Amino acid sequence: VIPPAGGAKRILVAAPRGYCAGVDRAVDAVEQALAHYGTPIYVRKEIVHNKYVVEALTRRGAIFVSETDEVPEGARVVFSAHGVAPEVHEQAAARHLQTIDATCPLVTKVHKQAVRFAGDDYDIILVGHTGHEEVEGTQGEAPERIQVVNGPEEVDRVVVRDPSKVAWISQTTLSVDETLETVRLLRERFPELIDPPTDNICYATQNRQAAVKAIAPHADVMLVVGSGNSSNSVRLKEVALEAGAPAAYRVDYAREIDDAWFDSARTVGLTSGASVPEILVREVIEHLGGLGFTDVEQVRTATEKITFSLPKNLRADLKAAA
Ligand code: F3S
Repeated sequence: VIPPAGGAKRILVAAPRGYCAGVDRAVDAVEQALAHYGTPIYVRKEIVHNKYVVEALTRRGAIFVSETDEVPEGARVVFSAHGVAPEVHEQAAARHLQTIDATCPLVTKVHKQAVRFAGDDYDIILVGHTGHEEVEGTQGEAPERIQVVNGPEEVDRVVVRDPSKVAWISQTTLSVDETLETVRLLRERFPELIDPPTDNICYATQNRQAAVKAIAPHADVMLVVGSGNSSNSVRLKEVALEAGAPAAYRVDYAREIDDAWFDSARTVGLTSGASVPEILVREVIEHLGGLGFTDVEQVRTATEKITFSLPKNLRADLKAAA
């Protein structure tokens, strides 16, 4: 990262940022469903945790509901990227709903690990945030075996049947460093603790945090575009502060920016969560440009090529119609 040249104030824009493959697929699934089947298309929970995306899809005719019992019998419903518990599939089947499951394949992978550990009779520690939809979905795979640990401070409370038979899994959008610390403490208590067979914190979460860590030490203020209920967006702000940014703010939209945040700033770091469309970042860059931050430099720490194909039944219907 080159220091600011002359008088221009600069923005260091993180790359990767914004949409991950799972979000891209989930949003595309709703759009394709609306285009192919027409309205009404119901969506259980926010398809991804971003206000702009939900508002845009609502305008196009998607109907967002909290639970499947709000969906009329036999109607079509999309399950969000965060995943659902098996119970939700059962409820949907009982109401004869036509489901399109937009659960991110990387969340499904964690569900499968939970099922396998539970089948082998392990007590499972799910490191994640209580109440988050992804955590509810994963825990629902084996509620009698899984207990949620929110962070290092909760490790002491864990009670297991057999300390030699404990495994951990996690939410996909956690802070990498905090999770390492939680697991270190868990292992102190349970030296035979079994790791998940693959990383549960997903590539997109890891890459976005790594990019923020590269920028934060050079920024006077770090700005994260993302919604308040977006776990990975909220983590990015925390990671920025831990990595040395003197101040960090999260906004959904450019209009939420308080210009006073940048009164004495020469360099602003900018990133966006995995559910954030790029248009919202462009609006922030434009706003900052009006404040004199005209030197825009991208700091890339990784290149992402991963994509996921649409949910199977939707793909089949689209193909049959083509
Ligand atoms: Fe999937 Fe990670 Fe995105 S779990 S939805 S790729 S943040």
